[in-house]
This record gives sequence, structure tokens and C-alpha cells, in this order.
Amino acid sequence: MLADKDRIFTNLYGFQDWGLKAAQARGDWDDTKSLIARGHDAIIEEIKTSGLRGRGGAGFPTGLKWSFMPKESKDGRPSFLVINADESEPGSCKDREIIRHDPHKLIEGALVAGYAMRARAAYIYIRGEYIREAEVLQKAIDEAYDAGLIGKNAAKSGYDFDVFLHRGAGAYICGEETAMIESLEGKKGQPRLKPPFPAGAGLYGCPTTVNNVESIAVVPTILRRGGEWFAGFGREGNAGTKLFQISGHVEKPCVVEEEMSIPFKDLIEKHCGGITGGWDNLLAVIPGGSSVPLVPAEQIMDCPMDFDGLKEVGSGLGTAAVIVMDKSTDIVRAISRISYFYKHESCGQCTPCREGTGWMWRVMERLRVGQSSREEIDMLYEVTKQVEGHTICALGDAAAWPIQGLLKHFRPELERRIDEHAEFTKEAAE
Ligand code: NAI
Ligand code: SF4
Repeated sequence: MLADKDRIFTNLYGFQDWGLKAAQARGDWDDTKSLIARGHDAIIEEIKTSGLRGRGGAGFPTGLKWSFMPKESKDGRPSFLVINADESEPGSCKDREIIRHDPHKLIEGALVAGYAMRARAAYIYIRGEYIREAEVLQKAIDEAYDAGLIGKNAAKSGYDFDVFLHRGAGAYICGEETAMIESLEGKKGQPRLKPPFPAGAGLYGCPTTVNNVESIAVVPTILRRGGEWFAGFGREGNAGTKLFQISGHVEKPCVVEEEMSIPFKDLIEKHCGGITGGWDNLLAVIPGGSSVPLVPAEQIMDCPMDFDGLKEVGSGLGTAAVIVMDKSTDIVRAISRISYFYKHESCGQCTPCREGTGWMWRVMERLRVGQSSREEIDMLYEVTKQVEGHTICALGDAAAWPIQGLLKHFRPELERRIDEHAEFTKEAAE
């Protein structure tokens, strides 16, 4: 279990004040000038050493992503950092806790990361529903400006850096990085084709890096304690500490910072008081937010909760939003509800996603009540394969994978419902 001394988010539960004075007492903004004085490339190298991988879900190596940003400005174009606080993945609620209780970690991280990438400013895009969080964050930004920590000659570093807060308006797709950029530009939030990646052409066509809140908020601590220190947690390729968000059928749902690669059972035992009704009552787990396939109980128990461990059992770490389902769960209904979510949130730009999400949901609803045939299960699988990998952004994959997980692990349950329904209609007709 992660020792208290190794926690980055020391005010995760808001036991202390989030304001500047209290944050400084916890070590934030401590000689930020000297972190910046290390220079752009040294900061990026330290983040590479730490092994930090993006905490928004995709897990792309953060230092490598930063290194894609240009060292020289072309035609006087500025570079930007965009911070993705549009936390909308069902099950995810970690960035909310950072913003509520530790906003200065994010703002200091924005300055240091922005400096490393030679960015002129950071735009924090926060989901519209986070009303109180946006208020706290804006106040924290104002405090940082008033104290000279950001703005002109930020933290007396000689570097000018602005931080702007932008509120979203409730569209899940605006969490996709290029849709977010479109939205920031005042356009309809629809993903762009990649490449070009944002580092080549991002906000207003300028070099841009989009990073998740948690990825940025851990940066000052990594720099102060060293990349090697952070890399010492977890295992190779899966380094660091991580915020896990555990919901569903556990005794005590929570958000907790833990060491990467902690086995699932330990995570639940240590922080959530176990599964409701005991371990024998566990049915399945969606380990990384609704975009990743479920894992049945027997395969998840000893699984290391990290990118590679969860990949090995056919799923993913995603945002580490761990949704636990016990045997009282109607698993078909649960996945059907997730299908509805993706149908509702599809931006409609590409045909496989626009049509496929609706099609998959309608079949799922029929399967839920057994009003289907065994052949339709195979057809549904084919449809998921037609959607997966054939769309502009990852929403298509995210809609297909939960269904594929259900078909892989719970096909007998689907067949049982079909048979029961057929029996029922036969009896009714007689
Ligand atoms: P992605 O794998 O396409 O990209 C990840 C990041 O790496 C992006 O910033 C991208 O620009 C960069 N990148 C990838 N390949 C690159 C290359 N060759 N050159 C330069 N940069 C490159 O994944 P994406 O679409 O950004 O994220 C999908 C994930 O987001 C899903 O797996 C899901 O877990 C997660 N997600 C999280 C949500 C949340 O609320 N936090 C909401 C919805 C999805
Ligand atoms: Fe829009 Fe779906 Fe295509 Fe993404 S995959 S661009 S959400 S239609």
C-alpha cells in the first residue's frame, strides 16, 4: 500500500483548505522559479525518466508527447497547452477531486509543463457540469495571478504565462482532444482527423499539447522528488502513483491514490472494505471507465491494475475508473445502458459511429429481454467489428468494446434469455 509520505495528492479529500496559503504550506509553489530554471529540455527529460503516461485514458508517454512540440516558433506562432478537465467518462471522477481540493497543484503544473513546451498559455477546458469546481479553480487562478505566480514574469522566472479557464457545455465528445480544440475555437465540438496531431496543428492552427488534469498536476512533485522516485512505483512501462476511482458494489466506494500495478483484490480490500456480500458475490468489473471491456470476476482478482496487466485480460486501465458489479447486476442491461450513452454522445460525423451506435443499442435492448435470436448475437459482433477502427475518433471503439466484452464473457447469459423468451412466446401461443 502506498505510504502517506509518497502521496502526491495530500489534500485529495479536502480535509484542509484548497486556497493558496494552505497549498503553499503543503509544498506547492515552493521555489517554482528553480524548477523552471532547469530549462525546457531538462524538464522534459525528467518527465521521460519518470515514465509518466497520460492519465486521461490513452496512456501515451507524457514526456514523449511534450517533445513533439517545436523548439522554435514558426512565423511567430505561439504554442499552447490545453488541459483536459472535461472529465466525462462514466465512472471517472478523479480530476474533480484534484480541482476541488488541490487546484494549485494543477495551476503550478500548468506553468511548469507549459514552460517546458514553450507554451504561451494554458487553456483549462472544464466540463460544464462541474460548476462548483469551476468556481474553485477560477478563484485559485485569480489567487495565483494576484501572487505573481502566473502572468507576467510568472513566479519571478522571467517567463510570461497565462492560464485561462473555459467551461464546456455538456457534450462528452468535447473531451476528445481535437473536438476540444474545435470547441475552444468557438466551433461545434467535432473531432478532427489525425494526423496532423495537435503538436503540429492544434489550437488556432498553432502547436498544442492536450494533457489530462492528473498528468499535469503530478508534474511539480515529480520534478521536486525526481523522475526516478516516480518511476520507482509500479513496474516498467506502468510507472508511478495513480488515482483510482472505485464505484459500484463495494462496501466503501472511493477515489484513492495508489501505486500502479496494485492487484485488484488488494486495491478493493485495502480501500473499499471488500465486495458487497463477499468475494464470492463478485460478477465482473469494468476496470477503466465505460470505454473498456468488462473483465469477469475470476480473471480480475490477481490482475495488476495497470496498462499492461489489464491489457493481458482483454481490457484496459483507461482512466482507472473501476466499476464493480456483483451478482445482483443485470449485466446485459448494464452494457445496454452504456451503449445508449455512446449512441447519445456520438457527434454523428462518421457513418459507422452515427448509425452503428444506434444499431448496436437497439440490438442490445432486444437481447436484454431475449427478444432476439442466436444468429443476432453473431451479427451484433460483426457490427461492432465494422465500427471498431473505422471511425474518426475513439468513440466508435469505445462503443464497440463493452459489447465485445459482454459477448465474449456472457454469451451463455444472452442465449439463456433468448431461449427463455422463445419458450415463453411458444407457451403463450399454445
Ligand atoms: P489516442 O491514443 O489517439 O491519443 C493519445 C494521445 O497521444 C493524444 O494526445 C494524441 O494526440 C497523442 N498521440 C498519439 N499518437 C501520436 C503520434 N503518432 N504523434 C503525436 N501524438 C500522438 O487516444 P485519445 O483519443 O486521445 O484518447 C482515447 C482514450 O481516452 C480512451 O482510451 C479512453 O480511455 C479515454 N477517455 C477518457 C475520458 C475522460 O473523461 N477522461 C472520456 C473519454 C475517453
Ligand atoms: Fe463523431 Fe463518432 Fe465519428 Fe467520433 S467516431 S467523430 S464521435 S461520429
